[in-house]
Amino acid sequence: MTDAATPGSAPKVKTLPDAQTVTQVTHWTDTLFSFRCTRPQSLRFRSGEFVMIGLMGDNGKPLLRAYSIASPSWDDELEFYSIKVPDGPLTSKLQHIEVGQEIILRPKPVGTLVHDALLPGKRVWFLATGTGIAPFASLMRDPETYEKFEQVIMMHTCRTVAELEYGRKLVEDLRDDPLIGEMVEGKLRYYPTTTREDFHHTGRITDNLSSGKVFADLDLPRMNADEDRAMVCGSLAFNLDVKEVLEGFGLREGANSEPREYVVEKAFVGDGV
Ligand SMILES: Cc1cc2nc3c(=O)[nH]c(=O)nc-3n(C[C@H](O)[C@H](O)[C@H](O)COP(=O)(O)OP(=O)(O)OC[C@H]3O[C@@H](n4cnc5c(N)ncnc54)[C@H](O)[C@@H]3O)c2cc1C
Ligand SMILES: NC(=O)c1ccc[n+]([C@@H]2O[C@H](COP(=O)([O-])OP(=O)(O)OC[C@H]3O[C@@H](n4cnc5c(N)ncnc54)[C@H](OP(=O)(O)O)[C@@H]3O)[C@@H](O)[C@H]2O)c1
Repeated sequence: MTDAATPGSAPKVKTLPDAQTVTQVTHWTDTLFSFRCTRPQSLRFRSGEFVMIGLMGDNGKPLLRAYSIASPSWDDELEFYSIKVPDGPLTSKLQHIEVGQEIILRPKPVGTLVHDALLPGKRVWFLATGTGIAPFASLMRDPETYEKFEQVIMMHTCRTVAELEYGRKLVEDLRDDPLIGEMVEGKLRYYPTTTREDFHHTGRITDNLSSGKVFADLDLPRMNADEDRAMVCGSLAFNLDVKEVLEGFGLREGANSEPREYVVEKAFVGDGV
């Protein structure tokens, strides 16, 4: 991990429409990075929502993509967690962003991974693969999550251990956080797994739920519609498979307009890099 935060070099004049200034960049692996930027004063959002962000394209038009806001709604700044797609129109450039440079941010947050879309329950399960942890990086840092649920379980699965590091550090920092650390204590259960490298816990989220392994490991009852709620964010294939598992436990998909037991959002569109 390299931290490229060198404050003091922010430009005085904004040159892009809806411009925000980058304040910190952290590279986690050669395919993953996160960055923080200034937050428009007028921007209100619910933890778990996404916005359109980007850079000016070579044709002089904004090149925008959907990004989950990884920071909680109370934060003065915004944080994003991003893939680096080698030939990706946006991320082939965005991965080189530096402190003091500008990004475009359209201040119109939307999304289904919000508390309003779930019925009240005892436990909430955050189920993510890869960069799908981004909305939960926001929700895990939101006091409302701990006010609404007695237990919060973060399952994050990646191919390798290095790809888990952003989430691992976030959870570690959260436990020491003066604002929310006490709320989190004893409530947040973190269950990271890998699928293509040895680790203390391995296997796909779908398999660890279906087999009951995660319930046994965490000493929790089998998932059920009375007590459990879930939010899902990963590839299309993951989302489809996990939906089937959740429906098998009797949970039904909800939406902002019709809260139920679980909600789903795509972490990206497409099948592969
Ligand atoms: C609702 C929503 C929220 C999103 N939130 C995030 C986020 O928080 N962080 C993030 O990195 N991306 C997120 N994305 C994906 C993002 O919008 C872009 O696709 C990504 O930044 C790559 O942009 P690009 O122009 O470089 O390549 P694109 O042309 O957009 O993508 C090229 C290919 O790369 C693959 N790909 C794209 N994004 C990812 C990814 N995140 N993980 C693995 N493979 C990927 C896909 O196969 C895609 O077909 C989100 C997408 C949606 C729909
Ligand atoms: N991450 C890399 O090192 C890497 C390298 C080269 C190319 N890519 C490409 O980049 C894209 C995104 O990579 P990614 O690693 O972020 O995402 P990914 O391929 O979706 O894998 C992320 C995690 O989700 C698991 N998973 C995938 N499909 C699932 C399903 N249907 N049900 C349950 N779990 C599922 C994977 O397990 P499994 O390992 O069991 O699939 C892996 O642990 C992929 O489409 C891939 O082609 C990634």
